[in-house]
Amino acid sequence: MLKARRTPIIAGNWKMHKTAAEAVNFVQELRPAVAGQNGVEVVVCPSFVALVPVIEALKGSNIGVAAQNVFWEKQGAYTGEVSPLMLKEAGCRYVIIGHSERRQYFGERDETVNRKLKAALAHGLTPIVCVGEQLAEREAGVTEKVIRTQTEAALAGLLPEQAAGLVVAYEPVWAIGTGKTASDEDAQQVIGFIRTLVEGMYGLEAAGRMRIQYGGSVKPENIAGLMARPDIDGALVGGASLTVDSFAAIVKGAGVKI
Ligand code: PGA
Repeated sequence: MLKARRTPIIAGNWKMHKTAAEAVNFVQELRPAVAGQNGVEVVVCPSFVALVPVIEALKGSNIGVAAQNVFWEKQGAYTGEVSPLMLKEAGCRYVIIGHSERRQYFGERDETVNRKLKAALAHGLTPIVCVGEQLAEREAGVTEKVIRTQTEAALAGLLPEQAAGLVVAYEPVWAIGTGKTASDEDAQQVIGFIRTLVEGMYGLEAAGRMRIQYGGSVKPENIAGLMARPDIDGALVGGASLTVDSFAAIVKGAGVKI
């Protein structure tokens, strides 16, 4: 399971921040700030209404664009939803699925995460699937049980080749937006556990190719330590992705070769 086979991926999850105009200004500054940073894939995740102008502004660059959510149907009477077909046509490469805020505020469950994931794959989008335990679950010592349930349900029914191409983000809920990062060791332990689960489901080859990020209060100061761990392939970054300086510093930190 050599890490060298997996290109690290740093994704900036802007959540409900930045108007379309602000988003375009941001990526215009980001382009030169991360140009020449080889060996790291960079992704930004704007709101739905900013996707098209951001994709336009990034033409000719290697920076990828992700949506923050998707519905599982291709089209139909689903007021307020956005389909994987629409995202693909708009030029999205990735889509975040099952973020803990979607689970907490918008009723997402493991089963809907799985439906969305399959729909995204069927339309050629790469899912960034989020899993993570709550603080009470960690304190009760059931982190691995929770992660196992979420991962097995989210990733059920795929082909090994599809599983290999996914990005999973391990985001302990208690570390999101709190300033409390999981220790490098705790993050590695859970991410290594996820990789072992995937090996059990889809075999060694898929588990060895799948990229697994850490998310939760990632900053320029802590990225290098996380990246030094064998199973951590990048980060899903919230707060620190909102300014060009800190996001670009995280991208650079992820490029540090070990
Ligand atoms: P944070 O958010 O970096 O602000 O903790 C991470 C996320 O929710 O993806």
